[in-house]
Amino acid sequence: MSFSKKEIPRKATVLVGAQFGDEGKGKLVDYLSSKFDIVVRYQGGANAGHTICFDDKTVVLHLIPSGIFHENCVCVIGNGVVIDPDALMKEIEEVRALGYNIDGRLFISHNAHLIMPYHKSLDSASEESMGGMRIGTTGRGIGPSYVDKFSRIGIRIVDLLHPKTLEEKLRKNLEIKNTLLTKVYAKNELNVEEIVKHYCAFDRTIDSYVKNTQMYLNEQLRQGKSVLLEGAQGSLLDVDHGTYPFVTSSNPTAGGACTGSGVPPTYIGNVIGVAKAYMTRVGNGAFPTELNNEIGEKLRTIGHEYGATTGRARRCGWLDLVLLKYAVAINGITELALTKLDVLDQFDEIKVCTGYTVDGKVLKDFPTDHETLCKVVPQYRTFKGWKTSNSKAKSFSEMHANARAYIEFIEEFLETPITFISVSPKRDETVFR
Ligand code: GDP
Ligand code: IMO
Ligand code: MG
Repeated sequence: MSFSKKEIPRKATVLVGAQFGDEGKGKLVDYLSSKFDIVVRYQGGANAGHTICFDDKTVVLHLIPSGIFHENCVCVIGNGVVIDPDALMKEIEEVRALGYNIDGRLFISHNAHLIMPYHKSLDSASEESMGGMRIGTTGRGIGPSYVDKFSRIGIRIVDLLHPKTLEEKLRKNLEIKNTLLTKVYAKNELNVEEIVKHYCAFDRTIDSYVKNTQMYLNEQLRQGKSVLLEGAQGSLLDVDHGTYPFVTSSNPTAGGACTGSGVPPTYIGNVIGVAKAYMTRVGNGAFPTELNNEIGEKLRTIGHEYGATTGRARRCGWLDLVLLKYAVAINGITELALTKLDVLDQFDEIKVCTGYTVDGKVLKDFPTDHETLCKVVPQYRTFKGWKTSNSKAKSFSEMHANARAYIEFIEEFLETPITFISVSPKRDETVFR
């Protein structure tokens, strides 16, 4: 028997944060969800905070995909996500309380790993011990949970369905973690019986959502269904491609969408990068265009730049095109969504970083070692502000000429089209090109 080369419909789209997270991915995914059959979260955990504003409601999702407010959309939490069962249950209740049906349209991968109480304790204990070198994590236990996954001692969703194995694994892990907490970090030990009881109870609540989501997604794609893969965090927080060690512990970049969901790369047709019209970062690490002055303060105030998960003030700065060019390259971004353009409405002048120098020498590419990145001097190009709102613009041509010039410059620099321009947190206030 002979087979000819397969024609695969490229009906999967990846959506990634192109900067340091909080680019407005939640708004974009919610906006796009009416056009997709399935939305999948593929990495990260409740460190994410994806804000969605519709019908005068503001909802922050941490684990459930941002397609949940579209009743025709199925939502999948993929194998690459690390799940805090308490946080997930709380979120399910919140969505239900808003009047949305979840049954039969939320599925959780049986291979996803769990966040355990010891992961959270170790996250904060490790941060404390790092002093000035701390990462500034969200404290949600993300790093320690991925450590266990790769050490092959992690506990997965599927283990909740086998109470005996779960209890055995938990007791073994707690023995090790309690030694670590008490002997290395001088912290109190965790109560083994309480944790065993608490986690064993999850099997009943979680049972109906658990699925072999890898095979489910493959079948749906084969049948011609469309899938949106929702990244959390941002490209520069990627453990491989980001500003290591000041990164998260997963792969938010486009490659992570395949490993974190089981959707093969052959199904992926395009990659949407979401970028703010300026930049923010929460937590520590290099940020070449950061503005530690009244301009940064103005961006923070107008943009309400406070973390959706931890409430921490976000560091603010001008848009960095050297960094974005790198993000476009490593993700294979085919189109960009530019968000929060309205935050720049009140500025006389707007700067954009178009190059880096180190010791007077121009750098060709974004440096991937943190030491060098801390030393770069950004080179700026200045644009005239538009000093008006573009919120009533229904098309690109209706936007102010100075705003259009700013957007067109970014497109040309990045050689990538900007197909969505967001000028408000609300679902409808998006200019689609
Ligand atoms: P995510 O993590 O990428 O989903 O982004 P976050 O939800 O953490 O942060 C983005 C914040 O900006 C949220 O408060 C959104 O409601 C808000 N937002 C999104 N798009 C826009 C926009 O175009 N203009 C304004 N002013 N706010 C926006
Ligand atoms: P969304 O999906 C912004 C940052 C933390 C810290 C680093 C590591 O809302 O864009 P972690 O808790 O992951 O070990 O922390 O990553 N961080 C985020 N910053 N948005 C996020 O998610 C983030 N998730 C993690 O502040 O610097
Ligand atoms: Mg966020």
